[in-house]
Amino acid sequence: MVARIFRVRWFKRFLALVLGLLLGLGTAQLVSLAQDTPSVWEVGTEPAFPPFEMKDESTGDLVGFDIELMTAMAEAAGREIKFVALPFDGLIPALQSKTISAAISGMTITAERAQTIDFTRPYFKAGLAIAVKQSDDSIKTLDDLKGKRIAVAIGTTGAKKAAEVEGATISTFDNSPLALQELLNGRVDAVINDLPVTLYAIREANLQGLKIVGELVTEEYYGIAIPKNSDDLAAMNDALAAILQNGTYAEIYGRWFSAEPPELPLVAPALAEAGTAQGLAWGRLFQNLMRGAWITILLTAASFFFGLIGGAMVAFAMISPIKPLRWLCRIYVDFFRGTPMLVQLFMIYFGLPALFQSMGFDLSFNRIFAAILALSLNVAAYLAEILRGGIQSIDRGQWEAGESLAMNPVETMRYVIFPQAFRRILPPLGNEFITLIKDTSLAAVIGFEELFRQGQLTVATTYRAFEVYLAVAIVYLIMTSLASFAFKRLEAYMDPINRPKKAPKTPVPSAIGVSES
Ligand code: ARG
Repeated sequence: MVARIFRVRWFKRFLALVLGLLLGLGTAQLVSLAQDTPSVWEVGTEPAFPPFEMKDESTGDLVGFDIELMTAMAEAAGREIKFVALPFDGLIPALQSKTISAAISGMTITAERAQTIDFTRPYFKAGLAIAVKQSDDSIKTLDDLKGKRIAVAIGTTGAKKAAEVEGATISTFDNSPLALQELLNGRVDAVINDLPVTLYAIREANLQGLKIVGELVTEEYYGIAIPKNSDDLAAMNDALAAILQNGTYAEIYGRWFSAEPPELPLVAPALAEAGTAQGLAWGRLFQNLMRGAWITILLTAASFFFGLIGGAMVAFAMISPIKPLRWLCRIYVDFFRGTPMLVQLFMIYFGLPALFQSMGFDLSFNRIFAAILALSLNVAAYLAEILRGGIQSIDRGQWEAGESLAMNPVETMRYVIFPQAFRRILPPLGNEFITLIKDTSLAAVIGFEELFRQGQLTVATTYRAFEVYLAVAIVYLIMTSLASFAFKRLEAYMDPINRPKKAPKTPVPSAIGVSES
């Protein structure tokens, strides 16, 4: 009976049924996602900004001051609400393209932003503050930051402030917690970030070892951002006014900040300034992209070089007769092929130093080292398999042939096996190289200003996502096409039959003692 159920035919039908069901469910889900009724407020938020928006650790739900405020507002307006998690620098572009109806994300109302999007009336009073290591007494004000290393979150007012500091080296991260981690790991001297968020991180997330100096470098007001000329503006302002009046606002505020809410103006003072949104200057963009492309090329070249050396060593170890060695290499390859490169990068850059520091060692390596290490370890794992496969694909008879010509194994490898294996290895090697060019973009998450990050940084100040990312894509395409062309040429060159023939050497008659010049 049991045996019959598992007969292949039945099993195939069962599999097809399950797959069909999954596909159907998935499509239904997608369709329902796309069919949102216009009465739903779809609100974008970047949930790495506690206590304003964050993921609850145990339930995975969005929680925070902003989340509760927006939910209360929707309730007051009689609207349904749905939150969408987005990167902070993606919020304004998403509003521009109207993929979301609003964004609440501790976003400061600035005259610059108000050129591309609208803001509701202010809902929170905040400001920037400088965070440094507890032991650091050299930094007390913004002026002290001259020439120092500062970490910031991308596209924020903190990043803008940092850019104004003379001679400072700035590292840009995807969000505030990562910037603070960078400070904790001792790789920067300061972080410029929103005061309530830094305070909360130091108190709640146990970022001991950090302190705040230069409190409230600026005064800022948060507003809910909406697309220009949206009908929701009035509804949201009304809802905000309603919950400010009926005490809901004060109740939420008290719960998150254990204080009475301050008086809020009707219009943010910043809006009185003349806002000049930075236009997209093509010359500047080109320059920045070229600078990024150069770093991408360096990262690719270095990682491929070390990956090749590492991969070759692992490949030889994997065909060696030593079993524990083969075993170790297997684990290595499986680990680096089987886990996302992004995770590896985070582990090496943020994780390792934190681990060592908790053990009392003051280890912290710079990002170039971390990026090249992570990329090379990953590439080496893939290359090891490619090299091993290539070598093992050469017929055993070739080894015997070498032996019968009195070659030792190293010579056989060098003159007989490897030249043949190399031709087979080349195409997958080319694939790997092209993949690597694209994978270097992951280094952006550790603040590397390679090609992709340069694009992101430009979008963060110009809000011209389409043109900029298209330009970024084209530069990648040029690089990968050049690489693929080079590998094709190399392949043709390595082909002994079709290789472009060199002109046969004419024998030069020579006599001893007589040399022609
Ligand atoms: N208030 C700052 C700004 O508007 C930072 C906001 C960052 N918010 C976030 N959810 N990551 O630039």
